[in-house]
Amino acid sequence: MTWPADAPAFLLGVATSGHQVDGDQPPAHNDWTAWEHAGRTREPSGAAVRHWQRFPQDLALFRQIGANAYRFSLEWSRLEPAPGEYDDEALAHYQEMTEACRVHGLEPLVTVSHFTLPPWLTHGWLSPEAPARFAALAGRMAAALDPVRFWCTINEPNVLALMGYVEGQWPPGQHRPGTAAGVLWAQLRAHRAAYRAMKQVRPAIWVGIAHHLVHFRPARATPGDRAAAWTADRIFNQWPIRRAGPQDFLGVNYYAPRWVSPATLANPSLVGPVPGPTTAMGWSVDPDGFRQTLVRLGRRGQPLLVTENGIATDDEAARGAYIAQHRAALEQARAAGADVRGYFYWSGLDNFEWAEGYRPHFGLIAVNRDTQERTVKPGAAAFTDWARAIRPDAPPPPPR
Ligand code: BGC
Repeated sequence: MTWPADAPAFLLGVATSGHQVDGDQPPAHNDWTAWEHAGRTREPSGAAVRHWQRFPQDLALFRQIGANAYRFSLEWSRLEPAPGEYDDEALAHYQEMTEACRVHGLEPLVTVSHFTLPPWLTHGWLSPEAPARFAALAGRMAAALDPVRFWCTINEPNVLALMGYVEGQWPPGQHRPGTAAGVLWAQLRAHRAAYRAMKQVRPAIWVGIAHHLVHFRPARATPGDRAAAWTADRIFNQWPIRRAGPQDFLGVNYYAPRWVSPATLANPSLVGPVPGPTTAMGWSVDPDGFRQTLVRLGRRGQPLLVTENGIATDDEAARGAYIAQHRAALEQARAAGADVRGYFYWSGLDNFEWAEGYRPHFGLIAVNRDTQERTVKPGAAAFTDWARAIRPDAPPPPPR
């Protein structure tokens, strides 16, 4: 695949997803609004950060902190409110957004589906019509959102299957590992169908999946724990990548390691206790796990795009350190041969963190949800430092 000649050589961006930032969606809008109104999250998404209306200002802020790219997602329920019926106003909104990206010097990377599903898909990804309907939507969007050259079909198929069908913390709240495997497979089939539909209308676009990769470490240095870490890696990380079919790049969402043993595998949540200090999500910080993940994936010989990486914290020094350490890890992985073409910090803005509501703060930009006022955080300076190393004309970093 040829990298678009006028795209930045390295995409340095921020990421969001529609449901987490847009706001003002009615209760029966998608599976998540229904879940929120059933009281299954810390709080409902409500007005979110009104990115639907405020995106022009947000894009200007992303550019101001040095980004040259922006990853955002489409909301299937808005685009196709009933099966086969498409909404022109919603499409016009995304056309405006992609045009605004161009105006602000941000290369758009668009995710077609980031967790939320329309209510008419009554069995979610297990609905027999899901792959074909999804592929039809993806093909239409690739044709209609003309300036978009980088696409993720689906965000983290393994996380949706784990959280919705094993842990039961996300819709539809099931605890059935056997079904989870079917849900994962249905999403990979949907990706394959979407990939074909998109490439048919726009052969030059880059299409991949945003895979969630966990760096599994053995809880103790025993053969049993090592075998458990190996198994978790095969099932959770490797299997979806191998079985996804064609991908022009591998999207990598990396946050943290997990410590596993045969007991945590039998659980079977794959989640072991976390030693040492953690972030507001209870996750550990492990940039070397990031480096190892990139080096290993790089051996597959495919271009990599880090589609998400970030920290939930209110300690801005910790945010800055996290970015600087993961930047160094990425640079080491590149020096070791991994073909990493971009990095998107999660997230551009503080937003709705699914079951956790608004408590965790991942953003480079804070949002006062009473006034919707935006403030660039001191931790964003580490991102701007990186931007200035790539683009000497980038603005100066915010005060630390
Ligand atoms: C998801 C995001 C989420 C982030 C932080 C990723 O798994 O794609 O939607 O907000 O992690 O938890």
